[in-house]
Amino acid sequence: MRLGKYLAQAGIASRRGSEEIIREGRVMLGGKVCTDPARDVDGSKRVSVDGSEITPASTKLVYAVNKPIGVVSTSDDPAGRPTVVELVASPERLFPVGRLDIQTSGLILLTNDGELANLLTHPRYEVSKTYRARLGGGALGATALRALSGGVELADGPTLPARVHKIAAGLIEIEVREGRNHQVRRMCEAVGHPVNALERVAIGPLRIGRLHEGGHRRLSAKEVDALRDAASRG
Ligand code: URA
Repeated sequence: MRLGKYLAQAGIASRRGSEEIIREGRVMLGGKVCTDPARDVDGSKRVSVDGSEITPASTKLVYAVNKPIGVVSTSDDPAGRPTVVELVASPERLFPVGRLDIQTSGLILLTNDGELANLLTHPRYEVSKTYRARLGGGALGATALRALSGGVELADGPTLPARVHKIAAGLIEIEVREGRNHQVRRMCEAVGHPVNALERVAIGPLRIGRLHEGGHRRLSAKEVDALRDAASRG
């Protein structure tokens, strides 16, 4: 990652502001003044600004990623499949917050902030997740929709009430507050409508928006605060 971007991501200043600070000779990389904002930072050398070290721990990063189908949501995969962490070039070690099935696309967070990850995945505070599901099994009737929203009996117990909207024929948006294995697929299957395609479109108040498949963007402090708020309301 370029030094200018690294400082901006560490919250030192805007991208432009960070480049200015570098050109002013206030930044040291590996103990030497570096005035080139394009210099590559790979985490192997100390970075300091005005003599204060910018440590990885002081840089809390949270990225929204649009995971494509076929990418696993673990940090590494013994089977050698592509992982979601490989989609974001970062000098910091990032890890995924929660999981999405390999066949599910859509919004997943990557962060180096363990405390935030805990808050967002802890069953006690579980932030709601919204999915778009394309369903098979013919016309989707009011009975199936009512069953999905009221709670469905699964092998590991009934599901909590969910918000369900029919968007078009065979397409629903469903917001759940639990994170059980393959939960949405199992719920839809249980009411006679197997899922043909599943995409996560929101985590709490954060929507995927126009993030393209395989793309990522860093969340603003305001967006991270809104996620924390959603968790503490949980
Ligand atoms: N529910 C599922 O069935 N799969 C996912 O990936 C997420 C929620």
